[in-house]
Amino acid sequence: MYQLSETHEMLRETCRDFADKELAPLAGEFDQKHLFPENQVKKLAELGLMSVAVEERWGGSGLDNLAYAVAMEEISRGCASVGVVMSVNNSLYCDPVSKKATDAQKENFLKPFATGEKLGCFALTEPGNGSDAGAASTTAVRDGDEWVINGTKSWITNGYEADATIVFATTDKSQKHRGISAFLVPMPTSGLSLGKKEDKLGIRASSTCNLIFEDCRIPSDNLLGEPGEGFKIAMMTLDGGRIGIAAQALGIAQAAFEAAIAYSQERKAFGGPISNLQTIQFKLADMATRIEGARLLTWRAAMLKDAGERYTKEAAMAKLVASETSTFVTHQAIQIFGGNGYVTEYPVERHYRDARITEIYEGTSEIQRIVIASNVIKEFA
Ligand code: CAA
Repeated sequence: MYQLSETHEMLRETCRDFADKELAPLAGEFDQKHLFPENQVKKLAELGLMSVAVEERWGGSGLDNLAYAVAMEEISRGCASVGVVMSVNNSLYCDPVSKKATDAQKENFLKPFATGEKLGCFALTEPGNGSDAGAASTTAVRDGDEWVINGTKSWITNGYEADATIVFATTDKSQKHRGISAFLVPMPTSGLSLGKKEDKLGIRASSTCNLIFEDCRIPSDNLLGEPGEGFKIAMMTLDGGRIGIAAQALGIAQAAFEAAIAYSQERKAFGGPISNLQTIQFKLADMATRIEGARLLTWRAAMLKDAGERYTKEAAMAKLVASETSTFVTHQAIQIFGGNGYVTEYPVERHYRDARITEIYEGTSEIQRIVIASNVIKEFA
């Protein structure tokens, strides 16, 4: 069941080669200078990686979600920041637009984003609500042929470079989460401004900022899906997004593991390479085992999505395990490197910083546990 097909293997090789040659050598500089990897993102588009699972007729690569997970891991192994730019465009923007937009909307809001000519972002979280996504206070009020949006969205990955966002806003407060609707907003647009670029611990080559809507008017045609369907669209989107972040976390962990194993064979102590020491071997064994387990969960969630089955619980399990694995593995990698792991001359300090966000965005580890628990309790009810 967990054997990759020839197509997946070829994709994996292509992505690995690209990551080794064009991402990993530059990732440290991008991180230190907070440089958005514009040329690398253009190359991802040329490789068809900006919408791996969207149909070809809409500009995507027409592959499956397993292919997306495989590609995300390899790209993130080269540079976690490039990985998150790719994941937001694939999972949080193109996926819901491909599922919920009308054909007319897709011409403008999907095709150029799927080809990678344009970049999308996803605006759900607000300064006053992150985990409690249903408590959105941003509003959208109908005025003739337009919607008028007011409110602030926070932690928006790709915010500085994006050409459009999906924004979630309350259209009927009395209906609580059932009164939230989703909208397609081109960027830049009048009434929408960007907050300051956040100075982050990790994934520093990707941009993160607030989107501030002040009487931002968009055509009534830009409603995505049905009125009141926004919360479900957000939840469905995050299910898929969690597979992407699990794969990103895996890529970071794999990079740290490979660096640690190579270092343990070069570094000499107590009369030989430290890889001869059982204390280091036990660390390598735990790192390899956790990575393999997380990869199986991630692929399983992707395969369930490909089979059209429910995968909410499995995506949450994959993200929970992969992100905690990434934190564990990058921590152990620094331990193996010792003092050298603590300085920017070696990549593992960056992997450690990059791993941390995977336990927070697209639902914290605590939220994944809530999702898993509510599903397993229902299964046994
Ligand atoms: N798919 C479809 N529908 C779903 C669903 C899913 N996975 N999960 C819940 N729903 C539906 C329910 O069936 C229910 O429907 P009805 O109204 O018909 O009854 C409705 O949604 C409400 O469900 P809950 O009562 O379970 O909702 P809740 O308010 O208790 O919240 C939650 C559930 C899991 C905590 C949710 O709020 C959540 O996932 N929070 C985390 C949000 C998150 O991940 N934010 C990350 C933002 S994106 C990001 O990180 C930005 C970036 O740029 C990378």
